[in-house]
Amino acid sequence: MRAFAPRILNNLVRIQSSRHGNRQTMASMPTSEKRIFSPGANSEDCQAAQFTRGSLDASQLGGNPLDQFHVWFKHAQQSDVYAPETCTLATASLPDGKVSARIVYLKEFDDSGFVIYSNWDTSRKARDIRSNPHAALTFWWRELERQVRVEGTVERLSSEQSQVYYDTRIRGSRIGAWASRQSEVLSDRQKLEDRVKDVEKRFEGQDEIPVPEFWGGLRVIPDMIEFWQGRESRLHDRFRYLKDCKESSGWKKERLSP
Ligand SMILES: Cc1cc2nc3c(=O)[nH]c(=O)nc-3n(C[C@H](O)[C@H](O)[C@H](O)COP(=O)(O)O)c2cc1C
Repeated sequence: MRAFAPRILNNLVRIQSSRHGNRQTMASMPTSEKRIFSPGANSEDCQAAQFTRGSLDASQLGGNPLDQFHVWFKHAQQSDVYAPETCTLATASLPDGKVSARIVYLKEFDDSGFVIYSNWDTSRKARDIRSNPHAALTFWWRELERQVRVEGTVERLSSEQSQVYYDTRIRGSRIGAWASRQSEVLSDRQKLEDRVKDVEKRFEGQDEIPVPEFWGGLRVIPDMIEFWQGRESRLHDRFRYLKDCKESSGWKKERLSP
């Protein structure tokens, strides 16, 4: 730890200088030391790209954020946003508080919340959720310069409910769900292929495959949903809905600073 001290101090001095707006110090910062520095900046004027495609006002947002999400999601689909169902699921384990995040697909959405499908035995998300039922989902729709953030508690779907979606998956994916001990260390690919062969043999000649008890849907029941529209100069429009039983809609809506 001691060996790093001068470097940390050096970095702190640079950060202090830049906070005080010392342009000369900023310009002379040895950015070449950084493997990546402001990668989004335009190479001609060194300026970060601007968000210019829309704006958001309270009058454009309804009282219920679930209705609003549905409107935005349909808009994303109609605007050819690439795979708008792609989102980041963040979870955290207790008591250590370590956070983990990964991309998943939103597969179902209704008045009770947002449903994703996964392994609930060996995956990191499964371990996190066993100790802490809070989770967050984040969507980024680049083509519309929109972000949606969802936070809430989670509940598992029953096997009967999960079976409905499981049955829509191609056979290979249904077999894969049985075969993969998601996120466990694999000594080599062959071990996975062998497990797939075993599962194929087990369900040979059987069209209908039962959903594994360790696999299925997880619903995030939201208590916070934020709608974010990118604006110029990073002065974005943000509206947060918080669950609030005092409001007639059940939700309180507030504008947030960018
Ligand atoms: C585009 C994309 C979509 C994905 N969709 C899912 C999904 O719906 N369910 C899932 O379990 N993993 C999905 N994954 C894999 C996860 O990101 C992750 O590797 C896996 O769930 C294990 O994560 P964990 O051990 O942290 O729980 C997806 C990955 C990508 C890149």
